[in-house]
Amino acid sequence: MIPFSPPRIDDKIIDEVVDTLRTGWISTGPKTKRFEKELSAYYGAPATLCLNSATAGLEIMLRWFGVTEGDEVILPAYTYSSTANVVIHCGATPVFVDVADNFNIVVANIEKAITARTKVIMPVDFAGYPCDYDEINELVNRDEIKAHFNATTTEQQLLGRIMVLVDAAHSIGATYKGKRTGVLADASVFSFHAVKNLTTAEGGAVAFNLPQPFDNEQIYRDLCIRTLHGQTKDALAKMQPGNWKYDIVEAGYKYNMTDIAASIGLVELGRYEEDMLPKRRLIFDYYTERFSSCEWAQLPLVKEADRETSYHLYTLRIKGINEEQRDAIMQQIFAKGVSVNVHFIPVPGLSYYKKLGYNVHDYPKAYDNYSREISLPVFYNLTAEQMKTVADVVIEVVENYLQQV
Ligand SMILES: Cc1ncc(COP(=O)(O)O)c(C=O)c1O
Repeated sequence: MIPFSPPRIDDKIIDEVVDTLRTGWISTGPKTKRFEKELSAYYGAPATLCLNSATAGLEIMLRWFGVTEGDEVILPAYTYSSTANVVIHCGATPVFVDVADNFNIVVANIEKAITARTKVIMPVDFAGYPCDYDEINELVNRDEIKAHFNATTTEQQLLGRIMVLVDAAHSIGATYKGKRTGVLADASVFSFHAVKNLTTAEGGAVAFNLPQPFDNEQIYRDLCIRTLHGQTKDALAKMQPGNWKYDIVEAGYKYNMTDIAASIGLVELGRYEEDMLPKRRLIFDYYTERFSSCEWAQLPLVKEADRETSYHLYTLRIKGINEEQRDAIMQQIFAKGVSVNVHFIPVPGLSYYKKLGYNVHDYPKAYDNYSREISLPVFYNLTAEQMKTVADVVIEVVENYLQQV
């Protein structure tokens, strides 16, 4: 069976993890701090906070901004559930909007959804493709939009407008107008989950990029405390001889990254630009070359003049089919030894959100994208032979299926 997206666990990773184990310092410590600095340098942000997931990062930023009951957060219907779940955790209301043919949020739809209750917009760089950053930033800075912003916390007063918090779970290394994701909005949250381009097994990071008068490094320091119980000293500082005494200044969370996880991240980041991204690009190019002659295939958008994807998901769509037909095609692909996937079931179509009253058919483009989409295997160790098998199997299955309907 060709797997979908196994991580690369080679000697370099194992040696770095073993090195961490041998130091005896396995929780948050020097390697996490180094990983944060190297991430900030990679995309050029003033500060980065590493956590145990992207979900934790999204939630801590909503809470930092004071998002609470009665507030609204605008997000695309086409995303993973965690983008919406964190809004629910804060007691606020997720306001879903429909997406474009390229899977990303449509700015005109955001504009229509803004009310006096809107506190945050959470665009998603779906599959690694950067969203319309300039248009979103321009929208939240427009005088008439700012005039309706109802600031209820110090942070909201200081920003004076809707915050743009990017779910960049897929898009580390993607570029937009010459900049990398991480510095394109107020804050951006990456995921280092096992299937992501850059993994730490489980993990995530918040890249801070708030405008003046915010001090991003101070926010980083405050959130280090908030994501570790509200404790004034981290475990490493407490371990210094005689330095055991600590205080709890707020009822904080337990979201910190471990040095074991950071060890994996350091190795992966060190070879990300020169090794991982080119390999993923090569796989995308191969699939695109194979499918471009198939008139039933709709290929993913990977590059335009002003932006380039991080090559996270190869989202093949099949023209003219419905959800059941897609599911049947996938079963046949699996039966021939190739693991495929679907990204994503639109959040309004999931049971919990349906019970809240959302209806996936209110987001026709999200539903259309979902019902025709199949994500193909993309991972570092995918061999040329495996790539060929994937393309051969997909073409054979789809063409046989379409002949029969
Ligand atoms: C778009 C999107 N947002 C958020 C997340 C959550 O990431 P994590 O598992 O690191 O919390 C994921 C994970 O798959 C995702 O795909």
